[in-house]
Amino acid sequence: MKCRTPRPGLLAILLSLALSPAYAGDSPADAHARGAIIYERCAACHALQTDRTGPRHCGLIGRRAGSVPGFAYSPAMRQSRLIWSEANLDHFIKAPMAFMPGTAMGYDGVKNDAERHDLLAFLRQEGTSDKCRNLQVERP
Ligand code: HEC
Repeated sequence: MKCRTPRPGLLAILLSLALSPAYAGDSPADAHARGAIIYERCAACHALQTDRTGPRHCGLIGRRAGSVPGFAYSPAMRQSRLIWSEANLDHFIKAPMAFMPGTAMGYDGVKNDAERHDLLAFLRQEGTSDKCRNLQVERP
């Protein structure tokens, strides 16, 4: 009988294709573009530069939770003592009310991991862009 074992090189290529996440290898610009579409769900209540039902998102990553001046946060948010990072935003956005009981953000969350990845790429890039330059909030 002839050799039936696939060549190791081919096997490795097939395996890496099968195991790679959907967004592997694409650029930050791609993630940003997809994140902008997902952000439309947030835009029901939020905007980058202005407060609406929810507080503005300019400068979000790195600022203290509940710290936009003049915005009427819930006590849960104001007293959370969180500094927003990509890690805790990932948890909050996945399940806001489970992550922070008592939050006034009445939204079920973004359950899909790849979608949150793209949304965070969007928030990270937009939050430090020129349009946010004069809207940074107190840093801890
Ligand atoms: C139904 C309206 C609504 C939607 C939709 C919504 N939010 Fe919110 N969001 C709020 C409100 C209200 C607050 C203030 C919560 C509080 O004080 O407990 C808030 C607060 C936040 C905060 C805390 C900000 C800060 O200044 O500390 C983040 C982060 C946030 N939202 C992200 C998102 C993201 C990302 C999405 C989309 C996936 C989203 N929100 C969708 C209403 C909403």
